[in-house]
Amino acid sequence: MRLRRCAVAWLEPREVATFQLDDLLSGGTGVVARLAWFAHAPHLGEAVEVDAAHVPLLGALGAIDWIERASLDAQFGTDAVDALLAAGLLLPQPEEGEDALADAGFRAQGWHPPAAVAHMAGRWQAIDGPKGMAEQDLDSNEGLLRQHGLPPPRETPASPVAAMLALPRVERDGFDALLDTRATCRNYDTAAAVPLATFSQLLARVFGARGSGHPAPGFDVSKRTSPSGGALHPTECFLIVQRVEGIAAGLYRYRVEGHALEPVVPHIAPPQAGDVGTHALGDAAPRAWSAGELRAFARIAVAGQDFFADAPVLCVLAPRFHRNFWKYRNHAKAYRVCVLDVGHLSQTLQLCATQAGLGPFVTGAINEVDIERAFGMTGYVQSPLVVCGFGPRAATLVESEFDPNRLVWPR
Ligand SMILES: Cc1cc2nc3c(=O)[nH]c(=O)nc-3n(C[C@H](O)[C@H](O)[C@H](O)COP(=O)(O)O)c2cc1C
Repeated sequence: MRLRRCAVAWLEPREVATFQLDDLLSGGTGVVARLAWFAHAPHLGEAVEVDAAHVPLLGALGAIDWIERASLDAQFGTDAVDALLAAGLLLPQPEEGEDALADAGFRAQGWHPPAAVAHMAGRWQAIDGPKGMAEQDLDSNEGLLRQHGLPPPRETPASPVAAMLALPRVERDGFDALLDTRATCRNYDTAAAVPLATFSQLLARVFGARGSGHPAPGFDVSKRTSPSGGALHPTECFLIVQRVEGIAAGLYRYRVEGHALEPVVPHIAPPQAGDVGTHALGDAAPRAWSAGELRAFARIAVAGQDFFADAPVLCVLAPRFHRNFWKYRNHAKAYRVCVLDVGHLSQTLQLCATQAGLGPFVTGAINEVDIERAFGMTGYVQSPLVVCGFGPRAATLVESEFDPNRLVWPR
């Protein structure tokens, strides 16, 4: 049998803390740390622990050329070779099995290795966040101030010797009024639905094609209202529609071609209230979800941020990486460009929703792995980078919003 290493395997020396009752009973803190090696191999979805004794074997063979297993057995022992094969870090020829298919799929994407490692390692699964990250909560700022002192000033202090060039103040116009009323909405009216025309117009404005180019037969590019690195627009919009007039609540994929919604039947168990993550479907048949199940999924998607899960429409922005990497193969900037593309789309959505009289939000605190499962994505092929949303605001302010000029919430 011949073997080679998977496309990317980056080693991390990690201190793993575990709780041990013995330690607590013998007067310790109960928290015991041990040192371990973890391999970040993006085709595996998550980092896997590697026995320290097996680490040299990973460095003894490359990711391109196949070498005879017998020589590795002789040098490192069959146990080490078996362990790394079982972990999916070494792959056999012929390429068979789930790990080999995943490695081949990953190779075909054209990822820059450090970007792939960072992307895969940054994905969350079943994280129920607000306890640790209530960034809209002023109390948490007080805690931060106590713990860390002041943050860096809001801008770099000006040079004391620079002669300032004052810029003219230009009279405000309607566009300023629009810009000034954009505020992250954390108070949705849970009884209100978005009118179909408003919903359709918003999707057309943010994600729709305003024109098309055809550089070659079968190669089509869209013109959108946001810019896109390489003009390729790799980002697709998946939707959790909870309340839009005339549209059945459910999961959808926005189709640029034809400006339409494609229903998505999730191949995972219907989420239940209180779930922090998703579960496999098991033997049950996939089916559309009830409104309650959809709300439970929305909450999982935004890592437990109930104020966002209440939005009538949540948009999952997920690039198909190879659409960009086709042009920028193994390129140090390509993943960054995908991230920036998503930020541009999100900002256009924030403004279009505001113009429509709706409250918008965007959050990066999302359970990517759970979202991928629901929409049938593979993390290194297509993956959510943010979730945005919009809908009518509630009549009363309960969760805090940043509206210092009281333009959104008049006194
Ligand atoms: C990339 C990004 C991620 C964000 N993630 C969260 C989040 O996880 N939770 C949240 O409550 N707000 C989130 N926000 C919103 C910010 O908290 C908000 O923009 C900030 O408080 C300023 O308020 P404003 O948007 O009303 O100006 C995010 C904003 C951006 C741009």
